[in-house]
Amino acid sequence: MRSEDMHQPIRLQDYAPPAYLVDETHLCVQIFDDHALVEARLVMRPNPALDKHGALILNAGDEVTLEHIEVDGAAVADPVREGESLILPAISASHFEVRSRVRLLPDQNTRLEGLYRSGGMYCTQCEAEGFRQITPYPDRPDVLSVFTTRVEAPSEYDCLLSNGNPVGMGPLENNRHFAEWHDPFPKPSYLFALVAGVLDCTEDSFTTASGKSVDLKLYTEPHNRHKTRFALEALKRAMRWDEQVYGREYDLDLFMIVAVDHFNMGAMENKGLNIFNSACVLADESSTTDGGFELIEAIVAHEYFHNWSGNRVTCRDWFQLSLKEGFTVFRDSEFTADMHARAVKRMDDVTLLRTQQFAEDAGPMAHPIRPDSYIEINNFYTLTVYEKGAEVVRMLHTLLGAEAFRRGSDLYFERFDGQAVTVEDFVACMAEVSGIDLTQFRRWYEQAGTPRVDVTSEYDVAAQTLTLHFAQSCPATPGQPDKAPFHIPVKLGLLGRQSRLPLSFTTEHSGFDAANQVFSLRAEEDSLVLSDVTEPAVPSLLRDFSAPVVCDYPYSGEDLKLLVIADDNSFNRWSAMQTLATRTLVALVQQAAGEADELRQTLLSATSAVLADGLLDPAVKARILQLPAQAYIAEQYSPVDPLQLDQVHTELRTWLACELAAEWQQVLSATRADEPYRFEHRQAGRRALHLCALAATVLADDSGWQAARELFERADNMTEQQGALRLWSQVANTEWDTAMEQFWQRWKSDAQVVEQWLGICAQRPGMTVAGVNQLMQHEAFSWDNPNRVRSVIGAFVMRNPRGFHAADGSGYRFLADAILKLDGMNPQIAARLCTPFTQWRRYVPAVQAAMQAELERILAPDGLSDGVYEIVSKTLQ
Ligand code: PHE
Ligand code: ZN
Repeated sequence: MRSEDMHQPIRLQDYAPPAYLVDETHLCVQIFDDHALVEARLVMRPNPALDKHGALILNAGDEVTLEHIEVDGAAVADPVREGESLILPAISASHFEVRSRVRLLPDQNTRLEGLYRSGGMYCTQCEAEGFRQITPYPDRPDVLSVFTTRVEAPSEYDCLLSNGNPVGMGPLENNRHFAEWHDPFPKPSYLFALVAGVLDCTEDSFTTASGKSVDLKLYTEPHNRHKTRFALEALKRAMRWDEQVYGREYDLDLFMIVAVDHFNMGAMENKGLNIFNSACVLADESSTTDGGFELIEAIVAHEYFHNWSGNRVTCRDWFQLSLKEGFTVFRDSEFTADMHARAVKRMDDVTLLRTQQFAEDAGPMAHPIRPDSYIEINNFYTLTVYEKGAEVVRMLHTLLGAEAFRRGSDLYFERFDGQAVTVEDFVACMAEVSGIDLTQFRRWYEQAGTPRVDVTSEYDVAAQTLTLHFAQSCPATPGQPDKAPFHIPVKLGLLGRQSRLPLSFTTEHSGFDAANQVFSLRAEEDSLVLSDVTEPAVPSLLRDFSAPVVCDYPYSGEDLKLLVIADDNSFNRWSAMQTLATRTLVALVQQAAGEADELRQTLLSATSAVLADGLLDPAVKARILQLPAQAYIAEQYSPVDPLQLDQVHTELRTWLACELAAEWQQVLSATRADEPYRFEHRQAGRRALHLCALAATVLADDSGWQAARELFERADNMTEQQGALRLWSQVANTEWDTAMEQFWQRWKSDAQVVEQWLGICAQRPGMTVAGVNQLMQHEAFSWDNPNRVRSVIGAFVMRNPRGFHAADGSGYRFLADAILKLDGMNPQIAARLCTPFTQWRRYVPAVQAAMQAELERILAPDGLSDGVYEIVSKTLQ
């Protein structure tokens, strides 16, 4: 068979409702030392919404060895198995029961999908299509069923967990025992979970707004029990916030979280039994960085919020993934903004979007937030579906306002509770409560690509009018050569060029929402006439990043500097600095000498002004002072020579550090810790700024690294210790090696810190393929643990440009080898590692040729997974 025929796409347009429904699912999972048996009893009926039902098709993955299957007591002798389908004859009875028994080998399940073993425990991962690796089932999200689960295991596995409420437990013969669970809420199979292990439990409780008490339990392996408090506190904050902001209460008497070391993703929202990657839940003050705490708090909240946005109301099919993910990311992002600092959270989210999602949307894997086809659904858990999806929900929030948006979400949860629905259903609720016509807005769900908004202006002194001309466009993406115009909310303000103060204005334009200063751009071109503008003004556009677009305006360097210093929207101060720095870097890369020099001087004086600003929140200041990442600059021009870009980027940072050495020194001493460590916004901001100043110090002179050593030795916290090690690694010397060894000895029994340590090694400047291969011999590395693979291979290929793009092509060969090796073990992880290759066409010819050769080599062997095949074949197209 040709490989195109082996890897068939699934299309949204082919969606058909399920022929049969499952009212009740009764599972008995028996875990033995070297295998597991799963018996299922499914109480089923034909879907009453359909006239014709046809064959009963269950999904059964290849981890499953079928031992027996029967329908209403009659054994089906030779069920047809075609790929992942198990085909049984059509059934006309109004109700019937399917019973099956299968054998699994969880110890050999390296894909970490279905039932697998992680260290000393057994656990499951079912989203998106893992449940079919546990038992034959209509494994699709629009089949909702009430689950009862019995787990049997050797008595040493003292915790036997599943969804819902415990309803029974007791001893069995042969030193075994059982537990039984019942989940009263109908759910799709992807939300099923089961855990069996020797686990420690930290308990807490939460009283809901209506007075119901909920038990909270966080299970870990015993050696991690000291790292559970933070996540439980975060969980309670999230539960309270969802009551206050969305009016959503928790619905079971028990909420459990389990931390597992081997996990493909961050965490999973299984009903009542969230399963987390240990790295995304375990924390304590000595071993966790500020960034780590914030991430954990956000992920705990995210998974908890899914209980409503995802579980109570779920997705009809996987094309609707953004229905639950985009909405839930928006919810967790607002939660973080409320807990800490709104503008800072916005800067961090937008940085992620601009550096990675924009690239995805401009590359061969570009897809709308609701894709119309996929070969491997696991490839569509993307920044586009998650982060751009959240931006789209945010635009709805902006257009409707908080109050109407809340009425829309109330309506959505109420109308669709217990159902599997589509993004249209969600948008329709928002339209219904607000009366706003969202027909055009729906294109955000259908069209891929990052739209561009080009703005120009003219000022009429006599009339005191400023006219803004808007033109929108969107580049072609695979399968979508032409795009229709989007409905784009542009939040804006004006800054007086002379007064340097915010200016007020009026306008007659019906698309302008004066209360929120938001202009709804709907046409391809439109002009907004602003009146009563008393002096020439610099427009501050796309405030708070009100839409996921590229917004361009012909600012002079001085305009940008004015915005950096004086904009009353702090997000846009940051954004203006990003624009100024981006322009400078692009001019430097393109060796546009005169222009580059002028921009560089403007950037220097803007930087100096920011450094001197005593009123700025240190967290904001640290972000404004951070140059945009190389990945973002690489999106601005082509062809890209990655080594030249790295050099230009480093030179500019070094130049700024040297020119402003005295100022940086001053910041360095002003931000020294003077109180014991606590994770809180003010302290974290101070530390971020301190590390910024330290970075400049290390760059500015040859002995600067001693300040890093001094911080490493003095710091009472992981943020500064690791920050110091990272910065100091730029001048790798024997003292650094010693410090790294010392750090390893101190932390080698802490898995989360070890993962960070591996990352620092892999990202070290000067690291080569030979060095990474050696690092992979270290006891801390292991191919079967995704976190370790990400920390070493992922960090090297995505965050070490000099090493990965080495001129001899060794980095590309290394990555292709790793992808091929991993594809046989864990295809999800293999597919994710393909990302650096997807940009190959943007590079200079030599790089293109070397990457192309590796892509072709990956595609050559038979038996490639759908996941890797899909990304590599689309990349080469
Ligand atoms: N649904 C999980 C989340 O919220 C992500 C996930 C997808 C986890 C697939 C495991 C497998 O974000
Ligand atoms: Zn999610």
